[in-house]
Amino acid sequence: MQTIKNSLGQSHDYIRLFVKEGDTVVDATCGNGNDTAFLAELVGEKGKVYGFDIQDRALSNTKKRLDGLGLNERVELIKDGHENMDKYINTPVKAVMFNLGYLPGGDHSIGTKPETTVHAINKAMNLLTKGGVVVVVIYYGGDSGFEEKDRVMEFLTGIDQKEYIVMKTEFINQANCPPILVCIEKL
Ligand SMILES: C[S@@+](CC[C@H](N)C(=O)[O-])C[C@H]1O[C@@H](n2cnc3c(N)ncnc32)[C@H](O)[C@@H]1O
Repeated sequence: MQTIKNSLGQSHDYIRLFVKEGDTVVDATCGNGNDTAFLAELVGEKGKVYGFDIQDRALSNTKKRLDGLGLNERVELIKDGHENMDKYINTPVKAVMFNLGYLPGGDHSIGTKPETTVHAINKAMNLLTKGGVVVVVIYYGGDSGFEEKDRVMEFLTGIDQKEYIVMKTEFINQANCPPILVCIEKL
């Protein structure tokens, strides 16, 4: 049966629309590696995924997941903040994926932060090839609070429409702050 997917499911659908085999892409928040593995499958053997996280635990969970799936050759895992992604990537990329918040099953106080997230989204937009996309799944409320969502939305609202299309999808009749999806396409 067809149903409307949650924001994470929709983010994968958008990524699938844009990314082809052989592309270079970025997972800006590896966490437990689900999105890194998804991206690595999509780019295929000739593609490349850069994966960032600031926590050893996240990177080791991601590495285990990739090893188990035989995908580690096409992924470079980097222990640094995504706000520094331009230090490691010097080619245009087709897609950058952000899954904000804290590591599921980890310390809720080590989550993404408003200032660095906005810097990182800006850098990701600059790294995009024309026709590339940044997708951001924004968790808010609960331990994530509201500040990061508000700062990100403020930043995105000011982006020049001649340079990028910015789209926001949200569920408006669900309790407990369901995550928001944002897609930013470079024109
Ligand atoms: C919601 S989790 C990501 C889930 C992940 N995509 C998955 O598939 O399991 C958010 C992750 O962002 C990481 N994080 C927080 N601040 C960061 C930063 N400045 N740069 C990169 N990663 C960061 C956290 O350590 C956490 O693992």
